[in-house]
Amino acid sequence: MSVKVNTDYLAGFIRDDEISNLRPYLRAAQKTLLEGKGAGNDYLGWVTLPDDYDREEFKRIKAAAQRIKKSCDIFLVLGIGGSYLGARAAIEFVKSPLYNALDKDTPDIYFAGNNLSPTALTELLSICKGKDLCVNVISKSGTTTETAVAFRIFKDLLVKKYGEDGARTRIFATTDKCRGTLKAYSDKSGFETFVVPDNVGGRFSVLTAVGLLPIAVAGIDIDELMQGAKDAKEALASPSLKKNDALKYAAIRNILYRRGKNVEVLVGYEPYMLMLNEWWKQLFGESEGKDGKGILPDSVIFSTDLHSLGQYVQDGQRMLFETVVSVKDPGAAYEIPYDPENIDGLNFLAGKQFDEVNKTAMIATLLAHTDGGVPNTLIEVKDRSPRSLGYLFYFFEFSCAISGYLLGVNPFNQPGVESYKKNMFRLLGKPGYEKLDIKLKKRS
Ligand code: PA5
Repeated sequence: MSVKVNTDYLAGFIRDDEISNLRPYLRAAQKTLLEGKGAGNDYLGWVTLPDDYDREEFKRIKAAAQRIKKSCDIFLVLGIGGSYLGARAAIEFVKSPLYNALDKDTPDIYFAGNNLSPTALTELLSICKGKDLCVNVISKSGTTTETAVAFRIFKDLLVKKYGEDGARTRIFATTDKCRGTLKAYSDKSGFETFVVPDNVGGRFSVLTAVGLLPIAVAGIDIDELMQGAKDAKEALASPSLKKNDALKYAAIRNILYRRGKNVEVLVGYEPYMLMLNEWWKQLFGESEGKDGKGILPDSVIFSTDLHSLGQYVQDGQRMLFETVVSVKDPGAAYEIPYDPENIDGLNFLAGKQFDEVNKTAMIATLLAHTDGGVPNTLIEVKDRSPRSLGYLFYFFEFSCAISGYLLGVNPFNQPGVESYKKNMFRLLGKPGYEKLDIKLKKRS
């Protein structure tokens, strides 16, 4: 198994029988999910995706990735939320957060269309000068402002650089199969299109073309990624709490939440996990945070953040718990050197591997934080391979769905995201929206 939940550091916080007492509820939630009988059941395509994905499209994704690799220096991925976080998380996890700076035979990859910052846009445009470019615009709805505006700009840039015909071969659109502005635009312009399946929501879409095309362009084996998800799908179909770690993780979260632990901090010990943390935050935050309920997902990279948030975790308000994702084989080895002069006094570390020291920091922190009253769950991941990551993606998606059903919310909608959009369109005068004037209440 690529992913295992270790409950050793929950001793004193959760008894084993508390987890097993939840068994009937967990089984009911799992049955509801697998039989497709719960809230949001028209968004369950991700459950069977590792077996059921469109093989013909999968081949087209690989072929497009090969063409993109050959024809550009920079691959621009335009998308927001579920339309970019998974791909970025995968590239950083399997390759590196410094992917663009590495010596490689694949293009640099920049993510845009996920904010409205003129600074970020101007900087990226200047990086693109004199470079060969390809663009993947990703939007299920096809109408998301951040992404659509960025696409308007980069499409114009490509048309100016390569002409209409040249640009057409360099633009790839991932969107709804038949609906929406982006689909209509792509069909009219002749861009190659890939599908976000109707029954897969944005934050559950990393194993569709949404994630797979950018991931394949980065040179990551997407067959292995899907195989990892398939391994997880098979393991997590088990109704046995002993064998099914996603049920265990969902149970732990639920018990802690009911005990007033309203914040979950996902902890990584490697900078390459930063964007995975961001993907996880969106997955759980957007799935559970509704109807006045839900655990607030937060994240840190230790030991870096032990020097910022560490103080709060150790000693602040006792409303949080930690979930530590530990990668057994970090994928690189480096020995701390010996210095005969030892002026810095570090020879007690000489000859030790960085990873040994990093893992020791992890154990030291687990002991300190549990002593400080913070329940800790350890999620052990075998390595940084695409197969382990595919497993981990599916593991979190499955746990999230079970958690949402235990909480009594629909984990697959996101009605709250519309509020800011509506106000923004009203303030900006979008046709069809009633004008909104800002009248802030005076403070007395
Ligand atoms: O999870 C979700 O559904 C959202 O985060 C969407 O992915 C995000 O809002 C982008 O939407 P779209 O792909 O329609 O542009």
